[in-house]
Amino acid sequence: MIRLGVNIDHVATVRQARRAPEPDPVTAAALAVLGGADGITAHLREDRRHIQDRDLDLLKATLTCRLNLEMAATQAMIDIACRVRPEEATLVPEKREELTTEGGLDVMSHEATVARAVVALREAGIEVSLFVDPVLSQIDVAQRLGAQAVELQTATYSEARTAQERERQLDVLARAARHAHSLGLHVHLGHGLNYHNTQAVCRLPEIRELNIGHSIVSRAVLVGMVQAVRDMKELIVTASAR
Ligand code: PXP
Repeated sequence: MIRLGVNIDHVATVRQARRAPEPDPVTAAALAVLGGADGITAHLREDRRHIQDRDLDLLKATLTCRLNLEMAATQAMIDIACRVRPEEATLVPEKREELTTEGGLDVMSHEATVARAVVALREAGIEVSLFVDPVLSQIDVAQRLGAQAVELQTATYSEARTAQERERQLDVLARAARHAHSLGLHVHLGHGLNYHNTQAVCRLPEIRELNIGHSIVSRAVLVGMVQAVRDMKELIVTASAR
């Protein structure tokens, strides 16, 4: 069975937009678990634009499922991961100006940095996954550096504009997944997966985990809207009934 990791960063983004206590991504995580999430994924960014250190501590203390920390391979983040000890850490590239993670980590160009991070995290008992483009040479390096998993970047697949291009990108993912699996790596996928494009990737036999955030949080906002308005309306009607 493929695991679903629910990424709750976008709940924290809404909270941070008002610097308010709500919506709390920790509560959202607990509800995601009730809904069947097999894991919770959270990205603690250097600029703390959404998830905060407090969120990570509370997630670790309260979650009844796996916690997957997405993080840059910096010493500061490694120190935090080794203290919090999530079940899994996914190393991602991080640029201050990006809206979200853009493309996989170039593990070939940053071999020494990634290698140091993999060793430190594994020594702390944390499973390490590297977020990479579905490129065979990147997967080879990920395996050589001692990662247990690769998360193949699905943004290019998700952003395909035609059915033909989507099929082509699915083939790219299929080949990369087979290659990673043949090297003994667990294969995860993430970025841009939604209610229309996820079932096709679930048919790839090597996939072990999907990390999905934006589409789930977007749907949660919309499917929850009627009830949220109804609740407020009821308060107003009750208070103003004369
Ligand atoms: N996997 C990784 C490595 C990511 O950086 C992200 C985005 O934070 C996701 C999965 C989830 O992507 P999305 O929000 O597009 O579902």
